[in-house]
Amino acid sequence: MGGADPEGAAAGRPALKGLFGIFAALMLAAGTAGAADAPLPPYAGKTPFTAITPEAQVARMKAGINIIGGYDPWWTGGDSHFSPSDFALVKAAGFTSIRVPLFSFAHMRNDGHLDPLWMKKLDSLVALAEANGLDIILDEHDFDDCAKDTDSCAVILSNVWYDLSEHFRNAPSSVMFELLNEPHGAIDASLWNSWAGDLIGIVRQTNPDRNIVVGPVGWNSLSELPNLKLPADDKHLIVTFHYYSPMTFTHQGATWAGPENEKARGVRWTGTADEVATVNADFDTVAAWAKANKRPILLGEFGTYNLYGKLDDRTLWTKTVAQAADARGFARAYWYFDGSFGVYDADKRQWIAPIRDALVPGAKP
Ligand code: BGC
Repeated sequence: MGGADPEGAAAGRPALKGLFGIFAALMLAAGTAGAADAPLPPYAGKTPFTAITPEAQVARMKAGINIIGGYDPWWTGGDSHFSPSDFALVKAAGFTSIRVPLFSFAHMRNDGHLDPLWMKKLDSLVALAEANGLDIILDEHDFDDCAKDTDSCAVILSNVWYDLSEHFRNAPSSVMFELLNEPHGAIDASLWNSWAGDLIGIVRQTNPDRNIVVGPVGWNSLSELPNLKLPADDKHLIVTFHYYSPMTFTHQGATWAGPENEKARGVRWTGTADEVATVNADFDTVAAWAKANKRPILLGEFGTYNLYGKLDDRTLWTKTVAQAADARGFARAYWYFDGSFGVYDADKRQWIAPIRDALVPGAKP
């Protein structure tokens, strides 16, 4: 982010650097960058922005769910199960907030601005969340790219946040920004602390009081919380962590989660006293950090893969983790609405009732 080469910078922004910057500079020189696209007007919500404390926002977000992530073909005009009525369905079941994982990088133009057509799709989701009374976290989810190439990520990520924060500057307080999902790999704590400070600075130019979500490195691991250093004077930060422990249970058979988890089969979680005590001890660690650092907490992802895990075990784990979050006043967002971690069967268009009931007890069928 800091100290970049001036060539190719979008007007008034830190300069582009790395391969992306060189490519962007060439494209600008050729006069081809986005010339035909009219800029999108800023998002105009139904409700004006009124600042709320991050503590009040966490209380309001309460029981959330990850939905319509960048993986979904809906974003690129492909065949998708997603229906606008899904937000109403989520709300009616008792969920109070949503987290939308964005793959913005694929929609970043060569001039350092996001594609207005993609932004229009995002606007439609934000408007839908607003219409359904759901708080919405815009989560930048290009974490794997960033973990591999920090030079390129620094450029694109800062341009993403310039654009998103400018565009949503008037959006209601129900809209939050999450700077980057699960920083890991080449992003170590010291680099991340410096990036997080820079990115918060970018957002604050246009959104002085909007609540921003930011988590530690190591895939938003609770063990990395002590290494997270945030601007001390910023009063609008929510700190996030993810919980998938034990991984051999939640990710048994998952090809993307390393050989040990990929090979795991038949791993049970039956809620023994030791298992439950481990969850509570982990959540106590987070609560102690939150108290000492005066930051409210969002458990931004937790969930289990359905390939080999038993439904009874997955339900009990989900309920235990959700209750551990609730008992400590953390907001939470289940991973994920549909698909292999899902609480909703999109083919049959019906809830997977035991998991839904673990997340939102008392939900209507
Ligand atoms: C990743 C998903 C993955 C999930 C559970 C998320 O952060 O984006 O691809 O399925 O974590 O591993």
